[in-house]
Amino acid sequence: MPPAPIEKKGEINMKNKTDHKNPTPSQNAEGSERARPILHQHAHEIQPYGKIAKLPIALDQQACATSVELLNQILADTITLRDLYKKHHWQVAGHTFYQLHLLFDKHFEEQSELVDAIAERIQLLGGISIAMAPDVAETTFIPRPPRGREEAPVQISRMLEAHEIILKEARTVAKQAAQAGDDGTNDLLVSQVIRTNELQVWFLAEHLVDVPLVRADIAKAAASGS
Ligand SMILES: [Fe+2]
Repeated sequence: MPPAPIEKKGEINMKNKTDHKNPTPSQNAEGSERARPILHQHAHEIQPYGKIAKLPIALDQQACATSVELLNQILADTITLRDLYKKHHWQVAGHTFYQLHLLFDKHFEEQSELVDAIAERIQLLGGISIAMAPDVAETTFIPRPPRGREEAPVQISRMLEAHEIILKEARTVAKQAAQAGDDGTNDLLVSQVIRTNELQVWFLAEHLVDVPLVRADIAKAAASGS
């Protein structure tokens, strides 16, 4: 039997040490159970859609339930308008491509902020906010656009109509919320939803004013009597 190798000073005998880089399966399982994720869990939902889980916000439960229902409509329409902006940001064409590409994305970001604010208002009122695309599609009043590309004036017209649907709803719901004592919902709708949508309408609508780019159209001006 050959003599055991003599360890030199400073040298480590790796045979008796755990190889931390390549642990055996039993070494791996040992002591790590609590750190392992528990996957594929399923259970009943804790709050069904349409039910209110009242929070202590000094607001009548019926007022909360009414605001939640009305806000979910505005949420579904705002999500749809937000997505219309992204669709048109990608698909816009023509000599105003760059300007509209940037404008549509700016409005998309602003609508995304509204989506979050409305959804979180619904949750704090004790309700459940609509979130997923199929539920949004079933709920929205905004007409579905084609999958294909449309001309820029058609895209803009489509979004102006969507803005007007939301503005009508927001004005009506703001008044109802104020009457029911839900001042927070009234404030969200007036100072965020209505003001943002009105401003975006202005920025869009001015693109549909038919004015010449360089040379004034004298014939058109004379015909209109100005
Ligand atoms: Fe982009």
